[in-house]
Amino acid sequence: MVAAVARKRFLQQSPDVSAFEADVLEGLHETPKHVPAKYFYDAAGSQLFERITELPEYYPTRCEMKMLRDHAADIAKLIPQGAALVEFGSGSSKKARILLRAAPKLAAYVPVDICREMIEQEAAELRPDFPQLKVLPVTADICKPFDLPHEAKVAPARIGFFPGSTIGNFEPHEASAFLRNAANILGPGAALIIGVDLIKPAEVLNAAYNDAAGVTARFNLNLLTRINRELGGTFRLNTFEHHAFYNRERHRVEMHLASLKRQKVKVAGETIDFRIGETIHTENSYKYSVESLSALARGVGWLSAGAWIDERKYFSIQAFTFAG
Ligand code: AVI
Repeated sequence: MVAAVARKRFLQQSPDVSAFEADVLEGLHETPKHVPAKYFYDAAGSQLFERITELPEYYPTRCEMKMLRDHAADIAKLIPQGAALVEFGSGSSKKARILLRAAPKLAAYVPVDICREMIEQEAAELRPDFPQLKVLPVTADICKPFDLPHEAKVAPARIGFFPGSTIGNFEPHEASAFLRNAANILGPGAALIIGVDLIKPAEVLNAAYNDAAGVTARFNLNLLTRINRELGGTFRLNTFEHHAFYNRERHRVEMHLASLKRQKVKVAGETIDFRIGETIHTENSYKYSVESLSALARGVGWLSAGAWIDERKYFSIQAFTFAG
């Protein structure tokens, strides 16, 4: 315990130690072991995630795209003339394009993402397709306060967009902090449109995170490849196994990497012991009901302004407004 506190303090103080190294070592020295899910997304992990979105068992992306297309005109009614659309964690802007087409009265689109090259590139591709629109990318961590470009600040309203059920990868207290931060950034009179995966039968969820082709397993194991490459790790991938299951009590799909044997692994010069069957908890994907998400949002001042659900009740697009 004392050693763990000392290590944490050392890591916080040492400017040479990357956040990745600090988070991985801290998580691997805790019981149960864990590594934050945000570290899945190196170049290989992002490509594997793209492949996941196309898997027959992984319904969320297809479902959300279809719902956005089917309800674009209705969703666009929430967007006033001259407003700015602010997308949190925009990535490829594929989903935003559907809203941009349905709401030609938008004056500005502000894609926000931690990865500068990607949003600059996407912005360059969007501009010729939407010549009327100001495309103003912002490089920022969506969970922290950041400044909007002047044009978005002076627009008559700001509409937040957070698709992909990424909110499900936050712990509930982090989801609530994200919603509070979004309200502060967007300001009074704002609306927020969020894609949220719904609670559903365990068989559907277990299949979605244990696809027959093994892509999700490779996505999960790629975290060890990344630790080996970037932190001098000695993980042998064939001694770890992908485990994913729906935890009904906590309404979340958990992903773990289970050690198939008792072993020692080195990471950044430190030795980590594994018992046989011991796991590294790598991701939670929380599932909500329309009511449970609106209760969370209400707690930080967002009022429900509409919800769309597909006919299988697998996925929802939920809208909120913020009076301030
Ligand atoms: C990005 N996120 C919403 C995905 C999810 O479903 O939680 C990540 C993922 N993990 C395994 N498959 C997909």
